[in-house]
Amino acid sequence: MNQVVVITGAAQGLGQVIAQRFSAKGACVIVTDVDLERAAAAANSLDGSGERVLALQLDVTRKQDFADVLERAVARFGHVTTLVNNAAMTPTTSVMEISAEEFDRVVAINQRGTFFGCQVFGHYFAGRNYGRIINMASLAGQNGGTASGAHYASSKGAILTLTKIFARHLAANGVTVNAVAPGPMDLPSVHAAVPADRLKAIINDMIPVKKLGDASFVADLVVSIAAENAGFATGATFDVNGGIFMR
Ligand SMILES: NC(=O)c1ccc[n+]([C@@H]2O[C@H](COP(=O)([O-])OP(=O)(O)OC[C@H]3O[C@@H](n4cnc5c(N)ncnc54)[C@H](O)[C@@H]3O)[C@@H](O)[C@H]2O)c1
Repeated sequence: MNQVVVITGAAQGLGQVIAQRFSAKGACVIVTDVDLERAAAAANSLDGSGERVLALQLDVTRKQDFADVLERAVARFGHVTTLVNNAAMTPTTSVMEISAEEFDRVVAINQRGTFFGCQVFGHYFAGRNYGRIINMASLAGQNGGTASGAHYASSKGAILTLTKIFARHLAANGVTVNAVAPGPMDLPSVHAAVPADRLKAIINDMIPVKKLGDASFVADLVVSIAAENAGFATGATFDVNGGIFMR
């Protein structure tokens, strides 16, 4: 079956790299983001001909957006096999200074967005008896975070729990649901969030392998979890954290 993959928050960063790796494997890719213009630019850079790529607006705070994207993706490519819940916001506000509004906003995007994605696509995949859902979590959801905010870290912890709940719920229908929990990657979002001198100290003092993570490896891992022969892996969290957190 040819792979058709929907990725949220794929206009930049890790989501864009994941889109590139799926595309390089011959998959049809639906590049979605809250920002359609940047999603379209990312899609165009994948496949200028536009034959195997589609850019669509998807705000993960809106459940209806997931349903609309699913409908348009099926209309265009016939079916969807894979959802990558990647969109997030990563604020670094100090724990005692987080307002109710900021807390709710982060939870609505990171946690509830993942929940809506699992609900809408999980229902569709279950009806087809096949599907792959990969939720982008974070080391911060396991160890409480280093530079990221409490709202971010706790929303990522909740994604690990949601992953298990949906994995159990959908297992008998051929649908796997897994989480990937990266530590700090060598990506623009990390360099923007942490001042250069602090980042250097974090790398030297806190990361056993003494370097930032490679986004292309995480993307390859996502592609691998989405493969047809990956049906025995479900409800799992795949750690890629430079040895910061070991089970
Ligand atoms: N960068 C890292 O080191 C790192 C580490 C651990 C986990 N992660 C996770 O990987 C994922 C990608 O991280 P990144 O560093 O590439 O992030 P990023 O901030 O560079 O990109 C996030 C994307 O999500 C989009 N987005 C924001 N709000 C949205 C909404 N409401 N609906 C749809 N899209 C929305 C943004 O427009 C942006 O394109 C996130 O889930 C993040 O938590 C990243």
